[in-house]
Amino acid sequence: MILVTGATGVVGGEVARTLAAAGPVRVFCRDPARLPVLAPGCEVAVGSYQDHGSLLRALAGVDRAFLVTRDPGGDSDARFLRAAEAAGVRHVVKLSAYAAGEDDADDLITRWQRDCEDLVRSCGLEWTLLRPRAFMSNTLAWAGSIRSEGVVHALHPEAPSACVDPRDIAEVAVAALTSPGHAGRVHALTGPEAISAVGQTRELSRVLGRPLVCRALTAEQAAVRWSRRHPPHVVEALLRGAERQSRGGKATVDPSVTRLTGRAARSYARWAADHREAFGPVPTTAVLSGAARV
Ligand SMILES: NC(=O)c1ccc[n+]([C@@H]2O[C@H](COP(=O)([O-])OP(=O)(O)OC[C@H]3O[C@@H](n4cnc5c(N)ncnc54)[C@H](OP(=O)(O)O)[C@@H]3O)[C@@H](O)[C@H]2O)c1
Repeated sequence: MILVTGATGVVGGEVARTLAAAGPVRVFCRDPARLPVLAPGCEVAVGSYQDHGSLLRALAGVDRAFLVTRDPGGDSDARFLRAAEAAGVRHVVKLSAYAAGEDDADDLITRWQRDCEDLVRSCGLEWTLLRPRAFMSNTLAWAGSIRSEGVVHALHPEAPSACVDPRDIAEVAVAALTSPGHAGRVHALTGPEAISAVGQTRELSRVLGRPLVCRALTAEQAAVRWSRRHPPHVVEALLRGAERQSRGGKATVDPSVTRLTGRAARSYARWAADHREAFGPVPTTAVLSGAARV
């Protein structure tokens, strides 16, 4: 049996959908109402990393697990791994972050991911670490201002990132969970090119068939916006990460998605085309020519 954590989230949801369509799988979540639609027969274990008993129940009979945590500075990874060892899990595939492997990255989120990776490596289970660059789906945060005013607000709008499609991360995760050769491996995952917020705005404009403008935020303005969703220590880490991006520190393209899936990594243009409904109505007669202002 495979257990998928984070199944209400971006990558975990995709992993759960793919595995559930192919065979037995169990998902671990706090709120089943937030799960994506999964194939009938998918088992649901309700619980939380803070509840050891719920982890033990979810992990009974499980030999492989996909681990997603999101508590920078917290102990969810440690709690999960303790329960996984006790339950006799054989292999854990952990969603980490690209920056964990970069010497010049030293913000709180990166240090937390590195500490979690150390726990995974030393826990006695077989392990695989996935280190994705920023998810392309982060740009869903722009949907509101695109719908209401045709504007994208971004810090360092010209700075490139080799962002990756979460579906590619999920595909690699499924391969690591279901095929041999991934134990003890670290997979750095990027998209096929580095693209800036201005470039992403241009792609969204093209698929939506309407002009969009990309406006620069100051660091102070970005911090105010992020403070609505994150505590101060996370906002500080996000600002430091954005600053590294502005210096070109996130532009490296890695061939691992192609090597591991046997096909090219999905581009941002492809992601935008596949998610255009999220950004507003799409004209029936397609493509904008020359109207884009970015
Ligand atoms: N977003 C990026 O660009 C990016 C890039 C590189 C690496 N990463 C890494 O990827 C991971 C996921 O990031 P994300 O922000 O995109 O998250 P996400 O998709 O929202 O997924 C987080 C998942 O963790 C679950 N979760 C949180 N706390 C839990 C708890 N106490 N018990 C059980 N489940 C819990 C959430 O469930 P609920 O629905 O109940 O909240 C959700 O399913 C993080 O480790 C992040 O550092 C993200």
